[in-house]
Amino acid sequence: MASIDFSKPLATLLKDSTREAHEQVEHSEGAKLLLSGELTKEEYTRYLMMLWHVYDAIETALEKHATHPSLEPTYNPALLARAPALASDISYLLQVDERTWKSHRIHLQLMSRSPTPLLNYVRRIEELSQSSDPSALLAHSYVRYLGDLSGGQTIRHTIAKAYGLDEAAGLGISFYAFKELRSSKPASQGEMKRIKDWFRAGINTAGERGGVQVKTAVVEEANLAFKLNAGLFELIETHLDDKNKEGFIQAPEVPQERLFSVASVVAVILAMCLSHFVLVVGGFTGDSGYQKLLAAEQWVADLWRSISK
Ligand code: HEM
Repeated sequence: MASIDFSKPLATLLKDSTREAHEQVEHSEGAKLLLSGELTKEEYTRYLMMLWHVYDAIETALEKHATHPSLEPTYNPALLARAPALASDISYLLQVDERTWKSHRIHLQLMSRSPTPLLNYVRRIEELSQSSDPSALLAHSYVRYLGDLSGGQTIRHTIAKAYGLDEAAGLGISFYAFKELRSSKPASQGEMKRIKDWFRAGINTAGERGGVQVKTAVVEEANLAFKLNAGLFELIETHLDDKNKEGFIQAPEVPQERLFSVASVVAVILAMCLSHFVLVVGGFTGDSGYQKLLAAEQWVADLWRSISK
């Protein structure tokens, strides 16, 4: 933090100071799984549900502080809000009414596990929202919205292909779609750049208004926001691991207990009866009786070993 030149515009400071954090999250296992379309449809839907909780918290907080000098320049829910798009995609993927997805099994299971990284993320946003200076919320707006406007676009195609969604119709992938800045038409790539430029200009205005104090708080918070997002990705990985253990994705491991065929067990019982008969009829007395006993014991042991292999 000491080497940062705070005379630079806030958007530049944010980009430079989060470069490393971005690289880490971009190359994480969770990002790889998401980008490759390797998540099952259920797992992907669960990830969208986590994002819904994050965006719901961010957007509720931004609405509360819509006129705050640090947040007002980038406040534009009609353009940016993602929670409604996420709710629509989740419902489409689950094929349920939009009012009911929260009571779907996948969501109930997710919340019943009290996923710590998700709860930490939401709690942090609520904490900032309740603080006397909510300026640092701008960092959360930056990390999510500018990320969606940038890297998010590359995964739209992968997601559509992986889950059999119609890219042209856009159903199930509305999270990745933005409208034009000044109309309700879908934004082209060129328009996306204009939206990002508008967003960065708003960040810079907030930085000029708040000075070094706000710039410092937002830069610090942006690095934390990347960590919180990395936590969500870890949740994908952890959950996959759990599922693998349960055998949903990979073939279940061979159970440790040995199984014996009925024929093998019958053979051993018969062998024991036979040896018992020989011993009883022939007698146990004297050296030969003892030798018979040892031989019978060895025979049963060999037979047991051979069927246990
Ligand atoms: C999943 C793998 C990811 C890929 C492939 C990716 C890719 C990219 C690319 C190519 C850009 C530059 C776009 C441009 O300059 O116009 C970018 C920017 C950005 N990404 Fe990502 N990204 C990924 C994950 C993330 C995640 C998880 C976050 C945070 C939640 C994020 C947040 C950002 C932000 C805030 C920017 C804007 C940087 C700036 O210009 O200030 N990205 N990303």
